[in-house]
Amino acid sequence: MASEKYYVALFAESYERALQFTDENKKFLDRFYEIFFSKSPTIAQLFKDTKMGAQKTMLQDSILYMRDFCISQRPNEYMRRIAKVHSKSDKDIPAELYDVWLDSLIEAAREYDSEFTEETERAWRIALAPGINYMKHMYDKC
Ligand code: HEM
Repeated sequence: MASEKYYVALFAESYERALQFTDENKKFLDRFYEIFFSKSPTIAQLFKDTKMGAQKTMLQDSILYMRDFCISQRPNEYMRRIAKVHSKSDKDIPAELYDVWLDSLIEAAREYDSEFTEETERAWRIALAPGINYMKHMYDKC
């Protein structure tokens, strides 16, 4: 494929398919949080008071902002805000949890996107990397 944004497009198509698929009434983002929370009690604890309905909607939107950031390579107000929420001055999310976050998201995508391949996995990792790096880098800077 000659498209300049090949991996971004592959990722976006996979994300769309994953969002549309429902397994036993469990949606993609429900499954993501189930996997993510199962990875460590520390993670589950961080969300103990969170209203998960609203959280899932915010996550769904934020993944699209992460895709836009991969294309634009320019932080907007939204990216600055979520970086601040996760930074040392607020939720204090350590860098290593971002790997667990991405692995959990990919695990859920593999289950929910019936066309998921190794190439799709690379697309998820490449398209989301700039946003994740931005958030990690901003940890102690806001
Ligand atoms: C790049 C990856 C991530 C994205 C895109 C993301 C996205 C979001 C968004 C959109 C919010 C809501 C912000 C708001 O209040 O407006 C949020 C909140 C939060 N995120 Fe993340 N997140 C990411 C990684 C992580 C990781 C690795 C953790 C570690 C456990 C984490 C823990 C939290 C917590 C604890 C909250 C606050 C929940 C609450 O308000 O009770 N996030 N995240």
